[in-house]
Amino acid sequence: MTLLVTGGAGFIGSNFVLDRLSRSDERIVNLDLLTYAGNPANLAALAGDERHVLIKGDICDAALLERLFATERPRAVLHFAAESHVDRSIHGPGAFIRTNVDGTYTLLEAARAYVAGQDDAARTAFRFVHVSTDEVYGSLSPGEPAFNETRRYEPNSPYSASKAASDHLARAWHHTYGLPVIITNCSNNYGPYQFPEKLIPLMIVNALAGRALPVYGDGMQVRDWLYVGDHCAALARVLEAGRPGTVYNIGGCNEKPNLEIVHTLCALLDEMAPRADRSSHAQLITHVADRPGHDRRYAVDAGRIAAELGWQPAETFTSGIRKTVAWYLDNQAWVAAVQSGAYRDWVATNYEARGLNGGAA
Ligand code: NAD
Ligand code: TYD
Repeated sequence: MTLLVTGGAGFIGSNFVLDRLSRSDERIVNLDLLTYAGNPANLAALAGDERHVLIKGDICDAALLERLFATERPRAVLHFAAESHVDRSIHGPGAFIRTNVDGTYTLLEAARAYVAGQDDAARTAFRFVHVSTDEVYGSLSPGEPAFNETRRYEPNSPYSASKAASDHLARAWHHTYGLPVIITNCSNNYGPYQFPEKLIPLMIVNALAGRALPVYGDGMQVRDWLYVGDHCAALARVLEAGRPGTVYNIGGCNEKPNLEIVHTLCALLDEMAPRADRSSHAQLITHVADRPGHDRRYAVDAGRIAAELGWQPAETFTSGIRKTVAWYLDNQAWVAAVQSGAYRDWVATNYEARGLNGGAA
């Protein structure tokens, strides 16, 4: 048996592949374009492991996908591949439309053609798990109930709009063609191997380097944080027992304003990596210009996946964030390796525009 994973060299995908192969011998074919966000070093522990094959390729390449399905004959697809960073989507939305919309369409079509050639049993057993985000639902006001699966889609950023479009395609391919699609919409993840352009790793990396900690606007935007290992466990349950045609929202039940997250990270770093002069990392906090169209609050109601599939997060925020800080402290060579010229260019573009002189790097 084989799983086809797309985007398995990125943050969540690589955590999924590593976690899965620590629990199961099922072979994984990992298709990843290795963009700036995809890093084969995330999968270094699998070097020489015949259960894992990394293929550098594009989900927009229909001929490649046709060949891959024909030769690998996967029993399921876990579709992680995407352009995933809101700020980058504001600076350059085209790549998001290409990968998230065209790429998902191309992958759905390849899966549909492959499944059509299977016998009834294989067709029924096949799964296409489309990994998506809670950001498709837009922004909540204070006190509004958390997003459940019937919430209206109101995406506000080019990123969330492109993911919303991909969700609609995935839904339609189930409804119209009977492809056994399951859609998951998850809240903000954190943990090992997250590229340091996202809030939590960016703050850790900047704090260790003594650079400014750039908080957008007033820092009171709320996200629902989930440890990446818990997201991977939820996806494993969905693959195993999820119902085709169903949407499952996944969340940490852990709403926190950004400023609180940054203060928590500073306190952990004060303890685990104190500055030479013993001053707090919190003195590096700098408020910068806000993100255009910044969503104020996300929160997920994960009641359906809890009730139907018995999933709940295993990690508390206290335990997960401490593990995460420890991982970044122990893996500074990984961080240094991903801070290429392209990374520095991005940081300068994003933060100079927000009034942080010289960027955050
Ligand atoms: P990521 O940016 O770290 O990884 C994306 C991966 O996709 C990279 O390895 C990249 O090389 C690959 N990729 C990009 N374009 C490709 C293409 N055209 N063909 C093949 N591969 C391509 O993203 P992530 O944070 O790991 O997110 C994975 C998925 O989970 C995404 O679909 C994202 O929308 C979703 N998601 C992320 C979060 C989060 O907090 N990070 C939360 C909910 C949902
Ligand atoms: P991010 O990690 O980019 O995830 P998302 O936009 O998908 O939620 O950002 C999380 C929150 O942190 C979001 O409200 C924007 C904010 N943020 C900052 O305040 N400063 C930063 O430098 C970054 C990258 C994000």
